[in-house]
Amino acid sequence: MEPAEKTINSKGPVASFRSMLAGKDPLTALAPMQAVSSLEFWQVMQEYGGPDLYFTEYFRVHSTSRLNKFILRSIDQNPTGKPVIAQMIGNDIPALIRTAKELEQHPVAGIDLNLGCPAPIVYKKCAGGGLLRDPLRTHRILGALRDAIEIPFSVKTRLGFENTDNYEDLLDIFSQHDLDLLTVHGRTVKQMYRSTVDYKAIQKAAKTVSFPLLANGNVYSAEHAAEVLNTTQSAGWMIGRGAIRNPWIFCQIRSMLKGEAVELPTGRDVLRLH
Ligand SMILES: Cc1cc2nc3c(=O)[nH]c(=O)nc-3n(C[C@H](O)[C@H](O)[C@H](O)COP(=O)(O)O)c2cc1C
Repeated sequence: MEPAEKTINSKGPVASFRSMLAGKDPLTALAPMQAVSSLEFWQVMQEYGGPDLYFTEYFRVHSTSRLNKFILRSIDQNPTGKPVIAQMIGNDIPALIRTAKELEQHPVAGIDLNLGCPAPIVYKKCAGGGLLRDPLRTHRILGALRDAIEIPFSVKTRLGFENTDNYEDLLDIFSQHDLDLLTVHGRTVKQMYRSTVDYKAIQKAAKTVSFPLLANGNVYSAEHAAEVLNTTQSAGWMIGRGAIRNPWIFCQIRSMLKGEAVELPTGRDVLRLH
């Protein structure tokens, strides 16, 4: 049985998410993954125990964008019983505000801004990870969204664009906007998904900001999750590829947190998954 405060209670997704954020237990979140984070994928994740929190893949936002119906379906028909955070990507402030207001009309627990996408087609337009090259613009976007969004507002970032030279400035900007949650993927945009993850840099963020922080990058087992929590001093983990490979990971982490033995899947379990 899940602790009651981690499933959606009668007050709805926002209240559930806020009580999770205020709680003491480390949080688990399934990472936003474009073309993976579907309603069906979440259903499978939930069958294997599932995380505390789900993130949608990003809604592309520009002056004439409309809410993507496929992503919206996973929010409106959320089969998990867990809060869902809707992620947006873009840099057009009026369009981002309009989209956030539209998303607030759906059962989302919060709204997240993507500051990490490393796809050239995205960053060349100064969106996603591209915004990390322009802290002032990021500052303006966060200020406008913080003012406009009435439900929890979070950011998912990397350590910088080419290098980590303006990481401290970025952390300062995030702090100024009093986010509800920050997720840090411990790589720069240029490092894509390949290099080692800089957990010490994530720790620096956790020490700097006053709101909860999720550590992200290469968490593949409960044992490693414990090390990451210890190093980063974060409020929990966001896990992407590790959950695709091992959908038991969230259950295994919960067992580890309770001091119970971490059960490994049998060969039959793995066959069933495939
Ligand atoms: C197929 C795929 C799609 C992704 N799509 C998104 C996305 O829509 N938004 C986002 O913020 N990150 C996206 N990411 C990045 C992940 O959320 C995560 O930050 C990254 O995979 C590192 O975490 P992991 O090592 O646990 O996978 C994507 C990653 C993958 C592998």
